[in-house]
Formats: sequence, C-alpha cells, structure tokens
Amino acid sequence: MSTVVYLNGQRIDYENAKVSVEDRGFQFGDGLYEVVHIYSGRFFYLDRHLARLQNGAKEIYLDLDFGLNNLEKVCRQAVKESGFKDASAYIQVTRGAAVRQHAFPKESSCTWVVIVRESKGNPQEFYENGITCITVPDERWSRCNIKTVQLLANCIAKEKAQRAGSFEAIFHRGGSVIEGSSSNVFIVKDNKLITHPVNNKILNGITRGVVLEIADKNDIKYSEEVFCMDDLFDADEVFLTGTTTEIMPVVKVDGKIIGDGIPGKLTKTVQKYYQEYIRTVDC
Ligand code: PDD
Repeated sequence: MSTVVYLNGQRIDYENAKVSVEDRGFQFGDGLYEVVHIYSGRFFYLDRHLARLQNGAKEIYLDLDFGLNNLEKVCRQAVKESGFKDASAYIQVTRGAAVRQHAFPKESSCTWVVIVRESKGNPQEFYENGITCITVPDERWSRCNIKTVQLLANCIAKEKAQRAGSFEAIFHRGGSVIEGSSSNVFIVKDNKLITHPVNNKILNGITRGVVLEIADKNDIKYSEEVFCMDDLFDADEVFLTGTTTEIMPVVKVDGKIIGDGIPGKLTKTVQKYYQEYIRTVDC
C-alpha cells in the first residue's frame, strides 16, 4: 500500500512527479482543487466534488480539456492501486504551463494531478471532547465560492490558529461570521442549526450540504442566514464541517466557553447521522 500519484493521466512515482516551473498554478495560483474522502474503499460523494470543480472551472474560464470522466476514472483507479481503505484524494487542475504573462495563454493544456494517500483522520478525542478556535479577519478575495489553490490567506489564518494552540481559525467580515480557514461553521441556537448562506463569501461545502440533508431528513430545524460574532459566542453549540474535519464540535472560541463547554446534543446527533452516511455513501 502506498501513496499513488497520477500526473496528466499517467501514473508516476511520487519522487518523479514534477510540473513545469512555468506552470500557472505555481506562478499565479491559477488553478482549482478538491479534497475527497474515501471511507472503507468507497468514495464519499466524488460526484459532488467533481461537479463543484466543473462549476469553478466555468467561473475562471478554465477548459477542463482532459475530460471530467477521465478524471473520475483516474481517481477510482488510483484508489484501487493504492490499496488504502481510508484515504483522501487530492485533485488539482491548473491552466498549465506557458511563458509568464497575466492574460490566459492561447495555447496551453491543463496540468492535472490526483494524489491518493492514506487518511489518518483527526484524533478521536477531538470529536468526543471538542476543539478550540480563534477568530480572524477575513482577508481573502471576494470569490470564496471558487475552490482555487490561492490559499495564502487561509494558510496564514490556520497558522495563527496553530500558534494559538487552536484547531481552526474562523473568519469574520464586517461583524459577520463567515467560515473556517478550511471548514464551514454551524452554530446551534434554541435547537436550530444556523450557518452562513451560500454566496461568494463562503465555499459551498459538500459536508455542509450533507448536514443540511441530515437536518431535512430528521426534522432538525435549520436556517441559512448571516449571523454575527455575538451569536457565535452566545451559541448553545458550535461545530465545524469539512471533508477532513467531518463534524467537529467547538467548545471554546477566542478563549470563551461555548454553551456548557462540551460537545452539544444536536452536534452529537449530527455526528451520529454523519457516521451512517460514511458507512453507506458510495458515489
Ligand atoms: N477544505 N471552507 C473552506 C474555506 C474549505 O477550504 C473547505 C474544505 C470547506 C469545507 O468544504 P467540504 O465540506 O467540501 O470539504 C469550507 C478542504 C478539505 C481543504 O482545503 O483541505
């Protein structure tokens, strides 16, 4: 069992997988990515991740010249070859290599990479006892719905969180709570889930969508609305969602205890239903 890399549709040894110094992903951050979870050898909504990639490509005028079906085949093949049961697939697509100039090159083809590696997951105690977060101003651009590889502001935010001994940094903008540096944020107030609406300010998380489906199916009240920093601190419960984050209870933000300081009832209910999804989803 080993990490498997496919570069432009070809299997390549990890050490030899290299891209051009003129790749636009490297020079301009001109590319998109996805991270997909594989549980017990089954993809967790690869279809939704590929659909989001396709939408992102339209937004940035990127022609996925290798074909989405081809990418899907390579992802499935790479997981098989890796032998890993619990894994993550990192997909990256860039506008390819060309002599450096800002405007898009007339003739270039996408660079596309699939890396499948074993997923170690977060420590179980994080899910059982909860984690802490800090808040940071959102200094990203205004098209956060696009999952671009330009992640410097997210990286700085995550680094600040780690330096503060926290798991995640939660972005705020104009007094509103936006999302985490690599996750979406939910609060619970009076037995209702609340999360930021889908627009250009957040990434429309696949996990976020699954949580709303869970809520729909199980008569859990929810609303997609903008909420402020005080709502975050006064929430009964807070949790994060994401492909690698899954459903992560938050028990402290900026040193302030959330609710009872332990993972809340509704958070645990969502975690339980999410585990059922993990056991059954295969697409
Ligand atoms: N991050 N918001 C941001 C800014 C993210 O980077 C992510 C995912 C999410 C959650 O999206 P999803 O549920 O589709 O994973 C929300 C990935 C996992 C990453 O950058 O590694």
